[in-house]
Amino acid sequence: MENANRDSQIGMQLPNPHLANMTKDNLYHLGMSRTSHDLPALFGDVKFVCLGGSARRMENFAYFIGQELGVLSTNERPPNLASNSERFVLYKAGPVLSANVCIYEHGIGVPSMLVVLHEILKMLHYAGSSEVTFIRIGTCGGIGVPPGSVIVSNAAVNGKLEHTYETVVLGKGIQRPINVDQELASEIHSCSRTEDPFSVILGKTYCTDDFFEGQARTGGAVCDINDGDEHRFLKQLDSEGVKNIEMESAGFFALCHKAGVKCGVVCVTFIDRLSTEDVPTDTDILSEWTQRPQILVARFIKKQLTNGV
Ligand code: URA
Repeated sequence: MENANRDSQIGMQLPNPHLANMTKDNLYHLGMSRTSHDLPALFGDVKFVCLGGSARRMENFAYFIGQELGVLSTNERPPNLASNSERFVLYKAGPVLSANVCIYEHGIGVPSMLVVLHEILKMLHYAGSSEVTFIRIGTCGGIGVPPGSVIVSNAAVNGKLEHTYETVVLGKGIQRPINVDQELASEIHSCSRTEDPFSVILGKTYCTDDFFEGQARTGGAVCDINDGDEHRFLKQLDSEGVKNIEMESAGFFALCHKAGVKCGVVCVTFIDRLSTEDVPTDTDILSEWTQRPQILVARFIKKQLTNGV
């Protein structure tokens, strides 16, 4: 089976023929299974899945979107539905799921994100959910944009600047295309407002497997590049239209495309890499910036729900 079809009538279909026989499928990292939980009752109405880096941030997002949609009462904190697992958190506010992509607080990058993404996709498939949109809300380094800007990805490339996500299956490297839904990216981008104290920019995202040399930083524990190499490479990214650097988008876009679900990536920049490699230390500022993609995505979700999605 190739990519799954988007089908609103019969629920989310996934391109894995083995799932039909997995009547007890244990979603180990979410702490639930097809038999222990009534997945259709719990998740059948889900329309949006928002994935972010930290458990705390995603709990706050669930609370925030729950208030915005009026589906949680004032001060009502939604429970962690993955509390049987010590790995990830999962909150639900009306038709919106909010989950973190890091194992505890320490995982960063595609591998831990893909674990939870596979299990959420299966969970929603078993639940019979349909027309679900996945959005990654994150933080990133910027290229030539003021820190605190929000970047909505309209393209993404891997560490070799290719539009494919590379992984290893049965000992062999395979490539999956990174496909970005332009309409969804534009829809999210259009939710910015002139009065916002930050810019919202559509742009290409550079996805790496490393925070240090992989992102042209010389300040890791080991380093084989020099300042000149760093600067030249970042200028090359700039000239190729890259607006931000992060560590999840390639795998996220590739798996969602393969699974046949819509997805978008919205990240706030913490630094301009053309000026520095050091992330600022002011936690109040970083915390305020971290809310910016959440605000934009909450507006998008509200608009979609108002339009009857
Ligand atoms: N996240 C990244 O991957 N890189 C940065 O520079 C900042 C946040």
